[in-house]
Amino acid sequence: MERLPRCTFAIISHPDAGKTTVTEKLLWFGGVVRSQEGMVKSKSGDYAKSDWMQMEQDRGISITSSVMSFEYNKRAVHLLDTPGHKDFSEDTYRTLTAVESVLMMIDGAKGVEGQTEKLMDVCRLRDTPVITFINKFDRDSLDPFELIDNIEKKLSIQCVPMTWPLGDGVDFKGVYDFRTKEVRSFKDSKNPMEPMIIDASNLDDEKLAKFAGPAIIEKLKEDLQMVEELIEPFSEEMYLEGIQTPVFFGSALYNFGVKEVLDMITNHAPAPRARKVKLAPYELDSAEEIVDPKEKKFSGFIFKIQANMDKKHRDRIAFMRVCSGVFKRNTKIFHTRTEKEIKIASPQIFQARDRELVEEAYPGDIIGIHDTGKFQIGDTFTEGQKIQYTGIPSFAPELFKKVALKDPLKAKHLDKGLKQLSEEGATQIFFREATGEKMLGAVGALQFEVVKFRLEDEYNVKADYEGTPFSGVRWLRFKDKKIEDAFKRNYSTNILVDGKDRLCYGVKSDWDLKLCMEKNEGVSFYKNSDYIENHH
Ligand code: G4P
Repeated sequence: MERLPRCTFAIISHPDAGKTTVTEKLLWFGGVVRSQEGMVKSKSGDYAKSDWMQMEQDRGISITSSVMSFEYNKRAVHLLDTPGHKDFSEDTYRTLTAVESVLMMIDGAKGVEGQTEKLMDVCRLRDTPVITFINKFDRDSLDPFELIDNIEKKLSIQCVPMTWPLGDGVDFKGVYDFRTKEVRSFKDSKNPMEPMIIDASNLDDEKLAKFAGPAIIEKLKEDLQMVEELIEPFSEEMYLEGIQTPVFFGSALYNFGVKEVLDMITNHAPAPRARKVKLAPYELDSAEEIVDPKEKKFSGFIFKIQANMDKKHRDRIAFMRVCSGVFKRNTKIFHTRTEKEIKIASPQIFQARDRELVEEAYPGDIIGIHDTGKFQIGDTFTEGQKIQYTGIPSFAPELFKKVALKDPLKAKHLDKGLKQLSEEGATQIFFREATGEKMLGAVGALQFEVVKFRLEDEYNVKADYEGTPFSGVRWLRFKDKKIEDAFKRNYSTNILVDGKDRLCYGVKSDWDLKLCMEKNEGVSFYKNSDYIENHH
C-alpha cells in the first residue's frame, strides 16, 4: 500500500444493529471488490465476512476478527472487524486497543443496547474518538431527540448531529446536512455516490414541502431550531478527546448515509497516535515513556492471535499493530519479552479474506505474522529498544467454568492446550489457590465451546466443564504487604491467580464484592489486568 496517512478503526455495535451490512458498504466505497449486486465479495468469491474457523462456518456466525484494508480519500484505511455475535469474546475488546477510533452503530428502533455499552467502556479506557451512525431509518425508529438523549445518558458522551432525518419508516425521505444545508433524498439513493440533493438553505421553499410533504418539513423546522438551541456545535478537538461524538442518520441496507460517515472518518479520525510503553523490566511499577509514531525506530505489538486461519497449514497468525518507524520484511527485529532477535520472512496484510505478502509496514498498519507458539498477546517488537506496549489488558470475565479432564493421562496435553489458548486470548485461565482447581473465564459463553472444540481438534484432549461459584473477578492491588497477607488469609476461598501469576478476587455476587470492597480499604479492585480505571 502506498504511503498514505493511515486511518485504523473498528466498528462497535450490538448484534443486528447492522455492522456487517455497513462493513460491506464501506468496503464497496473503498472499492475492495464490487460485485454486480453491489455486495462485497472478496477475490475468492466469498462474502467479506471472517468465517475462517470451522465452527464459524457451521454456525454461520463470525467469532473471530479480521482486518480489511482499502484506500479512500487519500488515506489508507484499516477496518478491524469486531465479532458482533451475542457471545462475543475478548478478541472484540482487544481489537479496540489496536485502533485509533471507532464507528458506533446504533439501531434507530432500539437505541443503545447492552453490548455497545460494554464496548464503549473499553473505548473510554483510552478516550477513543467515536463517530455514531444511527441505522435502519427506513424502518420505524425512535424520535431523533430520544435517540440522542439515550446515547448521552447511557454512554456519557455528548452527541452532535451532523445530519438530521426527515421522517422514518415508510415516511423516511432523507437527511438534512447541517454543514451544507442540503437535503439528501433517500428515495433517489440507488446510486449512493450521487443521491438527489435539494437546497434547504431556506426551509420555507416550496420545493421542500413538495418533496417531503408539509408535515415532515414543519417537524424538521422545529427540530432544527431545537438542535440550534440545545446542542453544541461540532468541535474536532472534543471529538478527538472522546468527549463529543458526531452523529449521522441513515440506512446501511440501502447504502444511505454511509458515504457521509466514511467521509467523516477519513477527514477527521485521528492518524496513528503516540502510545505509552513500559521500560524494562516491564513490571507494574516500571518507568513509562511515550513512543511517537514518527520515531525512526520500528516498534509494534501483538493484539490478537488466531489459530487455524487456514486449516491446511495449521498455522497461528499473530496480528501486529505497527506503532513507530518502519517494519521491513526479512530484517531482524527484537522480541522484548524473550530478548531474542527474530526475522519475519512472510509478513502479510489482509484484504477481506485474501492475504498478501508485505515488504514494508508503517505506523497504523496491521500485519499478520506466522507464530509457532512463541508469541503472546501484548508482546512488543522493536529495533532493540527495551520497551513494552501497555494497555492490552485482560478484561474481567463474567462467566466461569471449571475444567474437568475425561482422560487423566492427558493432563499434560490439557495444560499445554489451555496455556496456548489462553496466550492467544481464546480464554482466560485462573487457578483457585485453595483447591488447586483450573478454571476458565470468558467474556462470552461461546468462548467455552470454542475452547472445548479446539482442545479436542488441535490437542486431542476431551475436556468437560463443571460449574463454579464465581461470576466475576477483580484484579487486586494492596497498599502494603501486611494488608495483602491479611486479605489472602481472610478470603482464601476467593483467591484466584491468573495465567500471568497476578492475584485476583473471585466474585461470587455483586453483593459479596460490594461488601468485600467496603471492608477492605487498603485493597484496590480492578476490572482489567492493567489496573486502569475508567476515566469518565
Ligand atoms: P450485525 O452484523 O450488526 O449483526 O447486523 P447485520 O448487518 O447482519 O444486520 C442485521 C439485520 O438487519 C439484517 O437482516 C440486515 O439486512 C438488517 N439491516 C441492516 N441494516 C439495515 C437497514 O439500514 N435497514 C433495514 N431495514 N435493515 C437493515 P436479516 O434479515 O437478519 O439478515 P439478512 O437475511 O437480510 O441478511
